[in-house]
Amino acid sequence: MWLGIWHFYTYNKNMVKKEDNKMEKIVSLCKRRGFVYPGSEIYGGLANTYDYGPLGVELKNNIKRAWWKYFIQDREDMVGIDGGIISSAKIWEASGHIKNFKDPLVECKKCHHRFRVDKLENNKKCPDCGGEFTEEKKFSLLFKSMIGPVEGEQETAYLRGETAQNIFVNFKNVLNSNNKKVPFGIGQIGKAFRNEVTTGNFIFRTLEFEQMEIEYFIAPDANWNKIFEDWVDYMHGFADLIGLNKKNFKDDEIKKDELAFYSKRTIDMKYKFPFSDEPEELWAIAYRTDYDLTQHQKASGQSMEYFDEATKTKYIPHVIEPTFGVDRTLLALLSEAYHEEGESDEMRVVLKLKPNMAPYKIAVAPLLGNKEKLSEKAREIFVELKKKWNCVWDDRGNIGKRYRSQDEIGTPYFIVVDFNSLEDEAVTIRDRDTTKQERIKIKDLEKYFEGKLN
Ligand code: GAP
Repeated sequence: MWLGIWHFYTYNKNMVKKEDNKMEKIVSLCKRRGFVYPGSEIYGGLANTYDYGPLGVELKNNIKRAWWKYFIQDREDMVGIDGGIISSAKIWEASGHIKNFKDPLVECKKCHHRFRVDKLENNKKCPDCGGEFTEEKKFSLLFKSMIGPVEGEQETAYLRGETAQNIFVNFKNVLNSNNKKVPFGIGQIGKAFRNEVTTGNFIFRTLEFEQMEIEYFIAPDANWNKIFEDWVDYMHGFADLIGLNKKNFKDDEIKKDELAFYSKRTIDMKYKFPFSDEPEELWAIAYRTDYDLTQHQKASGQSMEYFDEATKTKYIPHVIEPTFGVDRTLLALLSEAYHEEGESDEMRVVLKLKPNMAPYKIAVAPLLGNKEKLSEKAREIFVELKKKWNCVWDDRGNIGKRYRSQDEIGTPYFIVVDFNSLEDEAVTIRDRDTTKQERIKIKDLEKYFEGKLN
């Protein structure tokens, strides 16, 4: 229970002051409308864990679908995999994570809250209660697990700490089963797990999260800086595609002495989230050299070399790694889309999500819910359009309230069937952003939305 309270407390403390409580409003909207719920809530909550509700899963799937199409299917030099989450300890020994993937932490001797040393900003005393700190200790971020029902005979396994390692250990499998030539890349979307001790800002930093990662294999003598820069541009193209504004990004070149143990160059693509005055890491790109494949070759005794037909040479490829967090992307989209318009009583909350990201594309309703003829006609339209787009039926309360309700979850269009529709075979379509309405013939609806949504 105390974890839940602690979580709530730290979340408020970190976020309330920034951007006129915007973050608090987003968290509240997420719970109220079914985007994101606190994890294990009925048991008092479990800090830094969340569950996605009906609208959250739609938004998440829209992000993942757009990513997969843009980074994998649209490119000839990319293929995808879907690797397992539970993985051999040997993978994480070889990759260096068991030894190096650790946070330096201190604990308050009085309230026992733990803090990451690098996030304390010269605080010598506990910022929560003023207590003394313990000596700095390193804590592994990897989630350890045991395989086997008999205690004492169990094998240690790990929940993957990054999806990247599935790609490295399958490099040869993909090469041998597909006709790919270097340079080419392998992408993957999936869950990763980290025993993060610090408190998160909502879904920004959690124990379980989803990554979308690419390992792009290049020759050792390739112009890696140019390829790196091309990927940075391509990543910015993805931000455009899903509706994240360039002005909220800051690309941060990581200093040499702060690079992860595997990286020779890293750019953190930071985003201006409402919970912080400074931009925070949203995505990243790293030049991992031949570090991982070399480590796995050494540890497994299996060759990770590539034979280049053109030059008749053998080498271990180097790697450029663009990486993305799904959950952080979702939070960035909600932050950017959240708008309040008008004054007090008249105020409307509207999520100005791009239509390709909106959980529902079209709401359909009869003007009055209790008129059978209107409902029948609206239902016909709903059933037809639902075959093509994710539509929602919304006939509760008065029409003004329904508009507000759909605005708040980002539904771009609202179709209303009224009494005239029974005569003129046309309906009213309201646009979420402009609130303008236009009259369209029912037979032309599909064409109309193809222009707007596809
Ligand atoms: N394979 C490289 C790698 O894992 P990372 O910067 O540690 O690099 C990549 O993680 C992305 O995963 C981050 O940019 C972020 O979007 C997301 N991420 C990392 N840790 C996270 C956490 N605890 N909660 C939510 N997202 C996280």
